[in-house]
Amino acid sequence: MILVTGGTGFIGSHTCVELLNAGYEVVVIDNLSNSKVDSLDAVKKITGKSCLFYKVDINDENGLREVFKKHKFECVIHFAGLKAVGESVEKPHWYYSNNISGTLTLLKVMAEFNVKSIVFSSSATVYGCDNQSPLTEDMRTSATNPYGWTKVMQEQILSDIAFADSDMRVALLRYFNPIGAHPSGLIGENPNGIPNNLLPYVCLVAVGKLPHLNVFGDDYDTIDGSGVRDYIHVVDLAKGHLAAMRYLADHAGVLTVNLGTGNGYSVLQVVEAYKKASGKEIPVNISPRRPGDVASNFADASKAKKLLNWSAELDINDMCRDAWNFASKNM
Ligand code: NAD
Ligand code: UD1
Repeated sequence: MILVTGGTGFIGSHTCVELLNAGYEVVVIDNLSNSKVDSLDAVKKITGKSCLFYKVDINDENGLREVFKKHKFECVIHFAGLKAVGESVEKPHWYYSNNISGTLTLLKVMAEFNVKSIVFSSSATVYGCDNQSPLTEDMRTSATNPYGWTKVMQEQILSDIAFADSDMRVALLRYFNPIGAHPSGLIGENPNGIPNNLLPYVCLVAVGKLPHLNVFGDDYDTIDGSGVRDYIHVVDLAKGHLAAMRYLADHAGVLTVNLGTGNGYSVLQVVEAYKKASGKEIPVNISPRRPGDVASNFADASKAKKLLNWSAELDINDMCRDAWNFASKNM
């Protein structure tokens, strides 16, 4: 039995699909602050199997205890957290409290119930802005905003806890830029309001809800001047969690691993791929650089391949096809 925190969210729901398809029993907890429980109905439609759901906040110690009393978990996959960079700058207390205190509470209850294995959603944001791509797991971590610092700090907390207890098994998964959707079009990413991230924004332009994409900078030292990122299909990313969980079954200690493709694509290349996949025009306006952005950010993906025997299988055309399929049905 696997506990998935934040399991009704974007990456969590895709991971539930992969877990159920692989035969695991899954319990989801989420406070529904950034998702709807309907995503688990979609997961059931896709897999023909159900997750058990509890509406519980990870800061609610007694609520967590009730769930841990009912089920014996072999591993926790911990997605629950707030993730908007701009919002974290405006409301740092909320981000530190939700993400850091929430994780500490979860870890406390895990310890009480002797659950020793946790897969954690970290982010490539922990590489800060001083490292050169391709980014390798041994590089120094830092952050440029409170959201990023919550990831750096949670990595530290989890590492210290594993150091103190030699039975602990911790996977720190550093995601690059997850995009796309399940090929069924039943689950995907549909943020409230005007999106900050590239792909949801492009999707809204494609369905006619926004007039054009602002390309933040065309004078970077990259292939065409626009920013380069390592986009990864959310289904590949979800599969990476199962690979990490299986690795932990045989290895105590801390595993830190990038989940990216190892390939960088520029904003303009993504727009071209999306146009091809959707058949839609995506008008662009070249705008000033976005503060805090780096020119180029992509993974060295070799450690995941070597240790987990996992690598991304889907390419940028697959990502745009599935993102468009989801957007045309749901946005
Ligand atoms: P999401 O917002 O879709 O999912 C997060 C889920 O956690 C939501 O369903 C939300 O309701 C829930 N949640 C938040 N605070 C909670 C709390 N206190 N108690 C219980 N549930 C709570 O986001 P996502 O894109 O699926 O991201 C999942 C994880 O991956 C997050 O930790 C995020 O920081 C991390 N991550 C995401 C990206 C990305 O680009 N999407 C990149 C790197 C890392
Ligand atoms: C951002 C966050 C990062 C977080 C990640 C996933 C910042 C500085 N970084 O990463 O911490 O982990 O999202 O949630 O916010 N772009 C445009 N026009 C747009 C939107 C984006 O040109 O309307 C460009 C950006 O300049 C960048 C690329 O598209 O070059 C990707 O942007 P985005 O999707 O926001 O991801 P990151 O900046 O990599």
